[in-house]
Amino acid sequence: MSQKIAAEMAALAAQLEEHNHRYHVLAAPLITDREYDRLLARLQELEQAHPEFRRPDSPTLRVGGAPTSQFPAHRHALPMLSLDNSYSRQDLLEFDRRVREALPSEPVEYLAELKIDGVALSLVYEDSLLMRAITRGDGVSGDEITANARTIRSIPLRLREPGIRAEVRGEVYMAAEDFAALNRRREQEGEALFANPRNATAGSLKLQDPRLVAGRRLRFFAYWLHQPAGGAPTQHELLEILTRWGLPVNPERARCAGIEQVFAFYDQCEARRGRLPYDIDGIVVKVDSLEQQRRLGHTAKSPRSAIAYKFRAAQARTRLRDITLQVGRTGTVTPVAILEPVLLAGSTVQRATLHNEDEIRRRDLRKGDLIILEKGGDVIPKVVGVVLEERPSWTVPFQFPERCPACQSSLVRDPEEAATRCENPACPAQLKRRLEHFAARTALDVEGLGTALVDQLVDHNLVRDVGDLYDLDLETLAGLDRLAKKSARNLLDGLERTPGRPFDRVLFGLGIRHVGATVALALARHFRDLDALSRASAEELEAVPEIGPTIARSVCAFFANPQTPKLIAKLRRAGLQLALPEEEDAAPPNFFTGKTAVLTGTLMHYTREQAAAYIQRLGGRVAASVSKKTGLVVAGESAGSKLDKARALGVPVLNEVEFTARLNEAGIVVVQG
Ligand code: IVH
Repeated sequence: MSQKIAAEMAALAAQLEEHNHRYHVLAAPLITDREYDRLLARLQELEQAHPEFRRPDSPTLRVGGAPTSQFPAHRHALPMLSLDNSYSRQDLLEFDRRVREALPSEPVEYLAELKIDGVALSLVYEDSLLMRAITRGDGVSGDEITANARTIRSIPLRLREPGIRAEVRGEVYMAAEDFAALNRRREQEGEALFANPRNATAGSLKLQDPRLVAGRRLRFFAYWLHQPAGGAPTQHELLEILTRWGLPVNPERARCAGIEQVFAFYDQCEARRGRLPYDIDGIVVKVDSLEQQRRLGHTAKSPRSAIAYKFRAAQARTRLRDITLQVGRTGTVTPVAILEPVLLAGSTVQRATLHNEDEIRRRDLRKGDLIILEKGGDVIPKVVGVVLEERPSWTVPFQFPERCPACQSSLVRDPEEAATRCENPACPAQLKRRLEHFAARTALDVEGLGTALVDQLVDHNLVRDVGDLYDLDLETLAGLDRLAKKSARNLLDGLERTPGRPFDRVLFGLGIRHVGATVALALARHFRDLDALSRASAEELEAVPEIGPTIARSVCAFFANPQTPKLIAKLRRAGLQLALPEEEDAAPPNFFTGKTAVLTGTLMHYTREQAAAYIQRLGGRVAASVSKKTGLVVAGESAGSKLDKARALGVPVLNEVEFTARLNEAGIVVVQG
């Protein structure tokens, strides 16, 4: 009997998912909504009576389960990068030139896709079942929102081929009609309206009640796939695989033999943009061959093999009321335009960054000017011009202040970066931004340290660096204005939780210039503890794939600062994690474990970064120069003095074939083209 019921439940689930796929992915339903609801109700009834037979891919999950109070953070297996943006043919021609220069005398084909204006989401499938859905977050880790993702009908709960382990990435979006209906509903209920479908999507994914998310009718397009074993040779075949598995893939795409064909696709899309049932903000151009993509590699932020080519932006005109200065956590002073409020692409704009002094001078921006504002499909409004005919007669050229608005020390022009900086390390404005950065969700995630409290802590001289936060007690805090005991308690509780944060977040939280979350993670994984990192030379730092000379210099400067050891001592006393736990990432012992490797010459099948990443993943380190401590040298074509030195010192040398064999032996399968 019970077997019969289990079989009926399995059959119902399969049937429902098939209809779901036909409706939400293929847009070719076979049954009416009422019939679908009837089948679903039957399954729900059976599940209630026999919860033991409830399946992990049950379509009943799509109506939403119990609310959660918080989304657990989840680290991405591979960082979720973003794309470089381009706005002109010129930008794109340069991208094409860079790609072809890096792949000399090889044919390069592109795949052009629509750039869906939504929110990126990563789906992890194991044994073909949807196990996890994770938002992009800071690219290193994001929120686990699996229950919410299950309510998105076009996301398969089970793939249509068996035994698949893969990570699929794509864009969650809201169709124009669903967006309009949602805002209409909100208006009737007196709730704030969403500015655009992307904001509505982001807001919906953050809801903690999956039943509410189900009501938002979100949709999904898949555009990326990572399979540990095997996979497609090209992006266009990868999309075909995704389609076969039952994932929704946007049908608008073009294989382009050269950049001219990409331009044609762009023009077509721009012309049809308004007729699509969802928002797009441009196209995405990808090198089609995945093997070429691998060789092109990526920077800390984005792959070198793909670029976003955005549509022209929406514009508006308004008056520039004032130009004020904002002091950032590393002392960079940014001029900010204070504007007469104006509506632009769905939201009201009152401020816009002016980047730096040169920018103001180049445009000769003056208080009182009528300026042209622009907002690309995305967030940040930019000042792109001045309407000179409308300039009032009383305006005068803007004089960039010579002193920091917060501490009055003399501002310094950084000749390399066109930036103006306040170089007073004790500047209260910088300290405030550093405290906020330390407390940010992506750093130490200190609840209860909001802007108002930060202002008071600094203004009352209670905190001189982030380490001083740990000397605060209830008594001092309760003495501050308007700060109820409860918020004081909140902050102390928040700080108490910080020893649980991993080392890379602490490192990121220190606010070292140029060290974002991805770089912090790379440094943490490479050096493993703060002492080793603090001793590293610029050269050793640059041996880390993600690190270039600018970052290396900045890290060295941070550790050379006489205040740094004091700060570190305070953080150590507070019990923060200043090292990676031993077991983290530990690959099983293999040829590379504990060895320091040096890469030299040109490898045919790997970029330096890839080879280094493999070695690190296997528990080895990578250094820039050969010494007695070097454990092995991987020598590619035309290796020179490093190879000679390795031979002279008797350091083992591997050629590329031997290197690949060692990687294979350690379980890394390198797909070679
Ligand atoms: S490929 C390395 N393809 O645009 C990132 N992205 O920064 C690979 N997007 O974060 C992204 N449509 O959220 C890709 N067809 C498409 C896309 C797409 C929209 C989003 C994605 C990404 C952002 C660009």
